[in-house]
Formats: sequence, C-alpha cells, structure tokens
Amino acid sequence: MDKAYFRVHLNTKKVAEERMEFLELIEKRYSARSYKPDPVEDDKLNQVLEAARLAPTAANRQPFQLVVIHTQGREAELRHIYDRDWFVQAPLLICACGIPGQGWIHPNGKNHYEIDTTIVMDHLTLAAANVGLGTCWVAAFDVWAAREVLSLPVEVEPIIFTPLGYPDDTPEIKQRKELSELVRYERW
Ligand SMILES: Cc1cc2nc3c(=O)[nH]c(=O)nc-3n(C[C@H](O)[C@H](O)[C@H](O)COP(=O)(O)O)c2cc1C
Repeated sequence: MDKAYFRVHLNTKKVAEERMEFLELIEKRYSARSYKPDPVEDDKLNQVLEAARLAPTAANRQPFQLVVIHTQGREAELRHIYDRDWFVQAPLLICACGIPGQGWIHPNGKNHYEIDTTIVMDHLTLAAANVGLGTCWVAAFDVWAAREVLSLPVEVEPIIFTPLGYPDDTPEIKQRKELSELVRYERW
C-alpha cells in the first residue's frame, strides 16, 4: 500500500477517535453558570472561532461580527450589560453581533441577519463544548449598555452573548419535550 495513503488513513482514524460523537457533543453542551478563572488557550479559542466562521448564512452574506472580550479588570462595566456574577466570571465573553445592512433579505422583506448570527453562536457553543469549554447563551442583556460598553457602531446590533471558559458547575439533566410533541409528519 502507498505509504502516503497509509499515513493519511491513520491520521484520519486518530482524529475520528479523538472527536466526540456528534450527538454526544450535543448532549454535553449545557448552559454553564459558574466558571473557573483558568485562561482559555489560544488554540482552543481559535478552534471555537473557526467553527463560528464556517457557519452557514443566507446567501453566504456572513452579516456578523464577533467581539471577544477579556473580562479581567472590566467586570464592573460588563455587569451593566447583564448583571450576574457568572456573566463576568469566565476569562472571556463573546458578543455575536448582526449587521442588518449586510443580511440577505427575502423578497417578502424578512432580513435573515438575526438567524445567521444565531447559527454562528450555535456553532461556537458546540465547538466550545467539543474542547471542554463552557458557554451560556445570554439574550436577556441590556442592549444599550452593550452598545455603550463595546462601542458598537449604529449599524451593528448585539444579538447574543456567551461567557467562554472552563465550567465550574455540573450540568443538570436536560428537560426536553418528547419528539412526539415536537414533530409532525407530512402536514400540521
Ligand atoms: C436564544 C437563547 C437565549 C438565552 N438567554 C439566556 C439568558 O439571557 N440568561 C440565561 O441565564 N440563560 C439564557 N439561555 C439559556 C437557556 O435558558 C438554556 O439554553 C435552556 O434552559 C436549556 O438548558 P441547556 O442550555 O443547559 O441545555 C438562552 C438560551 C437561548 C437559546
């Protein structure tokens, strides 16, 4: 067998073994509301951001920006955005912003920038769980405080925040509706 092929094959197998099964990963992600002060390694942050970058967006417009914030020393001002201890406890906080002016608009007038930005955050949170990092979606923040603290230009909209760091809590058992309550086939 060709040596180069063998090497590639072996590497692929190793990567597959190291990777968490997809459903296992989805189960593993949870809303962490307590974080250790340990720093997030640059390569892990880059992996998480890369997963966000690869997210699909309507018409591939990519109408988003991610603001990565180091929380150390900024806790007091960041708490104006969302006043919870855990919101500023992780070393990093990420704000996913949408840019309406760059979003794809359906002929019916609906702008898809918000959906796009949400998918980006979903990629980000799953990628974080894949490398052992915790996240928590935060939508109930003060938009005007976020604008001010992050110096957002008027054309940029903060959509969702998440802390990013090593979790210091244990996940609760997931409470979800049964599939039979959520799925219909062929017709409503
Ligand atoms: C769009 C969205 C917004 C959310 N906003 C908040 C929030 O503002 N504060 C908060 O503590 N949790 C927030 N959450 C977390 C949800 O409460 C959590 O995802 C849900 O209870 C399921 O728990 P799990 O993430 O641990 O599986 C939000 C989740 C989503 C998807």
